[in-house]
Amino acid sequence: MDSTTPAGSRPASYSAASKWIHWIIAVAVFFTLSIGIRLAYIPEGPAQDYYFDVHRSLGVLVLALAAVRVVARQMSGTPAPAATLTKFERIASTAAHHSLLALLFLQPIVGWLSMDAYRGDVSVFGLFTLPHIFPQSDAAYTALSWLHFGLGYLMLFVICAHIGGALMHGFVKRDGVLNRMLPRFLWIPQK
Ligand code: HEM
Ligand code: HEM
Repeated sequence: MDSTTPAGSRPASYSAASKWIHWIIAVAVFFTLSIGIRLAYIPEGPAQDYYFDVHRSLGVLVLALAAVRVVARQMSGTPAPAATLTKFERIASTAAHHSLLALLFLQPIVGWLSMDAYRGDVSVFGLFTLPHIFPQSDAAYTALSWLHFGLGYLMLFVICAHIGGALMHGFVKRDGVLNRMLPRFLWIPQK
């Protein structure tokens, strides 16, 4: 909440900044996840090294953007769930939003720790290298890699459910929920 929002009340809509950050994160996550899923299928060599670097750099960018998202959320607040939602939709969408927010932090941090346990350097777009924060350990590397794998596919599942729900509201129920995250010029006519 900002200082102009009365305590306890929530804004009527997502702020322009919240919408921008949502879509920038969505694009960054789309590429990080797609490249992550493909990584194992690219033969070892310079091409694989390149995609590893891009995946890790984008992942670190997602972590930074997630921090910006949380600050923006604190400053401008989030609107209450739309009044058109059923009880199930309200619980499912809130759970999806909170788990996505958590995964936007957890997944890059687990990726970073796994690289650290492996003693690999993580170069971020060639600009700087992440510090080492975890001891080298083969057992930890194996465990963290599996965790990164599991969380990656969990994220894919939650994102598909989230997008499915958003499209259903936008084009089937046509109740204005999708418009809440779109700029006004893209608003879909509602019932
Ligand atoms: C939102 C951020 C991220 C997502 C959604 C994501 C997702 C994924 C997925 C789905 C895989 C494929 C798993 C497999 O088939 O084994 C993968 C692999 C990998 N990711 Fe990420 N990742 C993210 C961030 C990061 C970061 C920040 C790093 C390192 C700094 C990283 C390092 C790796 C590595 C090294 C692999 C290869 C498999 C392994 O050895 O663990 N990832 N990632
Ligand atoms: C990787 C992709 C995505 C991620 C990580 C993501 C994440 C999120 C999160 C965390 C929220 C809650 C915002 C908050 O309370 O602060 C949210 C809201 C929303 N997202 Fe996404 N999103 C993604 C893609 C999409 C796509 C592709 C669509 C549309 C097809 C979409 C539509 C929406 C809508 C309409 C809301 C607001 C829902 C409401 O008003 O209750 N998102 N998203």
